[in-house]
Amino acid sequence: MDSSRFSGKKIILGVTGCIAAYKSALLVRELVKAGAEVRVVMTPSAARFVAPLTFSTLSCNEVIINIFPGDSSSGTSQNTWHIDLALWADLMIVAPASVNTVAKIAHGFADNALTTLITARRCPLMIVPTADVDMYNYVLTQENLKKIESTGAYILEAEEGELASGLKGKGRLPEIDKILDAVSVVLSSRKKDFSGRKVIVTAGPTYEDIDPVRFIGNRSSGKMGYAIAKAAFLRGAEVTLISGPSSEKPYQEFRLIKVHSASEMEAALRNEITDHDTLIMSAAVADFKPAVKAENKIKKDAKPASIELTENADIVKSLIGLTAGKVIAGFALETENETANALNKLKSKGLDLIALNSAVKEGAGFEHDTNELTLIAKDGSQTAVPMMLKFDAANVILDNVLKVKK
Ligand code: CTP
Repeated sequence: MDSSRFSGKKIILGVTGCIAAYKSALLVRELVKAGAEVRVVMTPSAARFVAPLTFSTLSCNEVIINIFPGDSSSGTSQNTWHIDLALWADLMIVAPASVNTVAKIAHGFADNALTTLITARRCPLMIVPTADVDMYNYVLTQENLKKIESTGAYILEAEEGELASGLKGKGRLPEIDKILDAVSVVLSSRKKDFSGRKVIVTAGPTYEDIDPVRFIGNRSSGKMGYAIAKAAFLRGAEVTLISGPSSEKPYQEFRLIKVHSASEMEAALRNEITDHDTLIMSAAVADFKPAVKAENKIKKDAKPASIELTENADIVKSLIGLTAGKVIAGFALETENETANALNKLKSKGLDLIALNSAVKEGAGFEHDTNELTLIAKDGSQTAVPMMLKFDAANVILDNVLKVKK
């Protein structure tokens, strides 16, 4: 975790009575590690699941549970603590948000410390609802969530999987990394501005087989493409991720198509493209492949002097006939004549936007968690993206994708 990601940010974390409350302890730890100052507010029922001492130790702050503070003081600042704390925060998160608390928030209740703070705050609100599957899907729970969302709050939906009850379905607290990425979206004042959009992201390298055990590949890790897919999802897009071999973990909500070679990636894209409005081609596609793939492992004794190569299709260029009216963004990885080469690629590949990646810059490009880019639009305008986390760079790319008018 980057210790400056949320540096100086003041976050109130509300924890409610739900078994997922034990996972909130990890969330506090990660927020603090990322540089945030965290104040935890628990509902009385949350305190039955996890001891407040856990949260006060992890947050290095007193935990608030009761609506009325201790009787040691009756000064003004004590009496209006909810106003002071609410104004202090840059962000308020409720994770997990139980069905009961969701219902209270939707109807403006202020009957405990947590719900009172929600009504008093001026900062953005992020709700992470969790429950057993039927409680989560209950029509009134869903209506309540929509109502809260209509007030401008950010809802990070629960994940599907095995639940504490043993049932399977939607209701689990999302992975902590996903919650942190959503926090980053909300803290940067972004919203679900990709709602209604269907985005394909390609990611990772392609492997071109020499024989059943060897291949020609490249050093792409897939980190940039996965970051774009995640950011697009958290901003409301429906995401199809076409991924070459990568050890990155996708979100479970992605429509994930795993491919191996450039020709498999091309076939997958041809199938998918018509059903989507945006393509972000971040895969490092191999330009060449072995002319033949040996059926059996090539033995040492065969002593092959060379491998004959044949060209792969330029995938994004080959789709030009199918992409009219769609927003297409690509990448250019260069080591010399960077801007001129990127502009050439933008034009020849029919792109609306190209992200120029320098392969020679320390901390940027393949395998790193950070990247430095120059975004070039069709009209030649450039946006410099200084060195930042790939997730943050992904958001800047998406901001620029939104600017493309079709
Ligand atoms: N690309 C593609 N099909 C290929 C090669 C690249 O669709 N066979 C896409 C990449 O996903 C990227 C863009 O084209 O969005 C530029 O890729 P890059 O590797 O920088 O350029 P190339 O076209 O391969 O040109 P060169 O290797 O000469 O730099």
